[in-house]
Order: sequence, then C-alpha cells, then structure tokens
Amino acid sequence: MNTLSVQINDHLHYIGVNDRDTRLFENLWPLEHGVSYNSYLLTGKKTALLDTVKITKVDTFVEKIQEVLGDRPLDYLVVHHMEPDHSGSVRTIKQLYPDVTIIGNKRTADFLNNFYEITDGIQIVEDGETLDLGDQKLTFYTTPMVHWPESMVSFEETTGTLFSQDAFGGFGALNGPIFDDEINWEFYAQETVRYYSNIVGKFSKQVQAALKKLGGLDIKMICPVHGPIWRDNPGKIVDLYDRLSRYESEEGVVIVYGTMYGNTEVMAETIARTLAEEGIKNIIVHDVSKTHNSYILTDIWQYRGLILGSCTYNNYLFPYMHNLLNVIKMNRLQNHILGMFGSFSWSGGALKALQEFGDTCEYDVIQTTAEAKGAAKQEDLEACRQIGKEMAAKLKALRTE
Ligand code: FEO
Repeated sequence: MNTLSVQINDHLHYIGVNDRDTRLFENLWPLEHGVSYNSYLLTGKKTALLDTVKITKVDTFVEKIQEVLGDRPLDYLVVHHMEPDHSGSVRTIKQLYPDVTIIGNKRTADFLNNFYEITDGIQIVEDGETLDLGDQKLTFYTTPMVHWPESMVSFEETTGTLFSQDAFGGFGALNGPIFDDEINWEFYAQETVRYYSNIVGKFSKQVQAALKKLGGLDIKMICPVHGPIWRDNPGKIVDLYDRLSRYESEEGVVIVYGTMYGNTEVMAETIARTLAEEGIKNIIVHDVSKTHNSYILTDIWQYRGLILGSCTYNNYLFPYMHNLLNVIKMNRLQNHILGMFGSFSWSGGALKALQEFGDTCEYDVIQTTAEAKGAAKQEDLEACRQIGKEMAAKLKALRTE
C-alpha cells in the first residue's frame, strides 16, 4: 500500500507536496496557511509525470515518484506551466530519468532554456494536439496568460480529467484532505479567492477566454497544481473562477485608510458608521499600514464599494496607500464604486493623488470628498457622512437590477 502518494483512480496518482515553510509566495504574498504544489503521475501503458514541484520540496517529491513507479521508466514529463513552483524540479527529474521526453509548447521550450538551460529531449506540442499514451490520451490546450505566456492545460479524455495548472487553484496547504468532497470549503473558498485576486486576477480577460475554450469538454474531474482536486463537483470551482473573472461582486464596502496620528482613522470610522445606518451589512475596514495588500485586495475583489482615505505624507499619499493603489492598478480591478477622503497638516496632496487615481480607473466615482486640516471638524465629518450616504444609495440602487 502506498503511504506517501494518493491513488486517484486505476492509473492516476497524486504525488503533490505541501509547503508550510515559505512565508511569501512569489516573495510577495503571505502564506499564512501554506500552499500545496500538486503533481500527478499517470501509470498506464506509458508513464507520464504532470508538472513538478518547488525545488525546496524535491526530496519528498522524488520519494513519492519512486514509490509509485518502482522500476518502471518515466516516459514523459508534461510541463503545463513554467513558474518555478512547478518547474523547479524539472532538472532533477531529467537527471533521474535521462530518457524522459519533456512535453511543452514552443514558449515552454524558451523558458526551459532560459531558466534551466535544458534544450534537449523536448517534444513541442501544438494547441489541440493529442499525445497517445496507449490506454490514455492527453490533449493539450494553450491558455496564454493564465497566467504566463506558455501556460497550457491538458485533458485526459478516457476519464474526463482536466489537468489545469494554476487555473482553478488556491492557497492553503492540503492538510490531509485532498479532494473537494473531503475539505472544509469555507476555509479554502477564502484562500482560493485570495489566490485568484493576488495571482491570476490581472489576467481575468484571458481567464474568460480559457473558460470559453474549455467549455465544450466533458470535464469530470479537475486536477489543478494548487489546492483541492475537484472530483465531486468540478462545476463549483469553474463557477467561482467565472464569477471572479467577470468582476462579479457582492453588496458591501471596503474602507481602507492610511493614518499617522488617527485623524484619518476618525473619518473612516464616521463613514463606516454611516454605511451601517444606511443599511449596508458588509463593511470591512482596513488600516493599510497593518493589513497586507494580499488580504485587502481579496476583500476589494469581493465587494462592490471601495472607499480610500489617506493622510498626506511629504505632500503626497501615505506610502502604504501609494503601494496599495499600485497593486489595484496592476491587477486591473474593474466594476467598483469609489469614494475618497484625506487629511493634511500644513499642505494637501493625498486627496489630490487619490482623485488622480480615480480619474485613471473606470469606476463609478462618488463626487463628494472630504479633506480635513489636522483633526476632522464638524463640516469634514458631515462630508464623510455624505460619502457614506452616497455610497449606500448607489449600492442599494443596484439591488433592483
Ligand atoms: Fe503556481 Fe504560476 O505558479
């Protein structure tokens, strides 16, 4: 009996690994709950390894491969995606199995050379091409910019299994359960939305194109390279990715403020209270100095209303707020209602910069703003209340749509 790998069906094994050591994914995004690097091994008439894992986990990974393969050779290594959390162990696999044929597209071959100086033993496949494994068949579909240019998926038609690389993935180590019918989805749902908004969201247009391209396949199981395997209800994760990539959001408001001495915070509190009095239930307030952009972006992705407030720092935005605006712009977030406020001590700058940000986005911008000199006075707080009322009115108007 296998102890490390998990047998999915007669000829498919899960040989992924968990990473609970790495603090920041891509050295950017917190991994508070870890992440899994999923890999799969097909063991029919031919053997095929589908993606590898981050190099730091190579020892456990190789042990799992050897446990499943025993003395059998490895015929193919399919590289669906070249980001090093999946390609990091390709060189090791090639050393262990020198006769292995690496399957990738033309862009994959460029990356293999650029990252690892691997140029031989590569078989290039085209979009729609099928690799015959004897009793199984893998058909490849390119999914460019979901989320790298070489990204592709493969579909094993005899079992209806889609190997989807990063698509349909999420953060969170697999702590025992690996299938959708074994997990606590409430936990993984949040980690999946965070993964989507942080890693894939910028390419939502391309995600929509990929969903359309794969829409005709009779998918019975989805095996992504992060997060749970979807064997019970693959439609659930497809629906979630569809909604997120269409920028569908719920009624609610995320208020993010940058403050040094608490004056801007008071304005944020006033707006939050007004929203509650106006009947808005989902109100999230973040201090931009304390909460990582990863979590702020996740919340913003889910709720329609966004209200940004910043104190003035050296005639400009508070630095953490500047950083957040860059992250929002980089991820091409759409379909939001935006409100803005700020404060300053002796000369303005923050609110003006927020308004310039608002001008570059295609958001529904609330024209009322609030700007306090020092501590907010009654007229400033009244302007904050007005922002809250206008935001609530715009959100409530959407209820009937
Ligand atoms: Fe999980 Fe884009 O790598």
